[in-house]
Amino acid sequence: KLLTTSLLGAALIAGVAQAQDTEQLRIGVDVPYEPMEYRTPDGELTGFDIELGNAMCAQIKADCEWVVQAWDGIIPGLLARKYDAIMSSMTINDERRQTVLFSDPYIQPPSAWFAAADSGIKTVYPESLKGKTIGVQRGTLQDNYVTDMYGDDANISRYTTADDLVLDMDAGRVDVAFLDFPVGKSTLLDSEEGNYVTVGDMISEPEKYFGEGFGMAFRPRDKELAERFDDALATLKDNGTYDKIYDKYFKV
Ligand code: ARG
Repeated sequence: KLLTTSLLGAALIAGVAQAQDTEQLRIGVDVPYEPMEYRTPDGELTGFDIELGNAMCAQIKADCEWVVQAWDGIIPGLLARKYDAIMSSMTINDERRQTVLFSDPYIQPPSAWFAAADSGIKTVYPESLKGKTIGVQRGTLQDNYVTDMYGDDANISRYTTADDLVLDMDAGRVDVAFLDFPVGKSTLLDSEEGNYVTVGDMISEPEKYFGEGFGMAFRPRDKELAERFDDALATLKDNGTYDKIYDKYFKV
């Protein structure tokens, strides 16, 4: 009896010690941003970022919890320690580098323009979008870009979530959406609601806006944490895990 009790006690202590040893990390993410981060019909978080993020967390042996956060507050939330990292299709750029530390890019998709197949929009020069309504997610690179380049000619509708933008596209309140390509593909091109096409060119330049790809973001002093995620990403690229997740979401 004594033996069982002390064995149980030892097991409990070992269990507690182990639970304390596992590093707990929280990662902020704005959903839905399909196929990067969204919910299954059961409400479970899934998507390229979620699966890759979970694989990197497993690689660094951390226990990661996703914290859902609206995009417009996602950097303030990191700085206020609501979570320890952001993984939310955030494009790496110099402006954001003033406040956060980025990981290596983990994917480098272009941005693209999307319109209804019968919109009549063929080109996306500022002159051709005069009087048209451009939809973007507020506070994104795409928002900055159209505000700078199209602000004098077009009307710009800014949405809190990418989903609200898609709803207004379907309702005919937006003529053309400017989005990260994978998101426009999944929510517009592949949607059953409307018949959408890409118009104009995909844009990965100029570098100032789109050139660097998506990275995780950390508080500036968390250099070591960022490096551990960079190492994890390199390992997952070497061992085939990255390709498996990539193919699941992007293989055509
Ligand atoms: N890549 C764009 C940016 O960094 C948009 C990202 C929006 N992400 C999201 N999960 N809503 O500005």
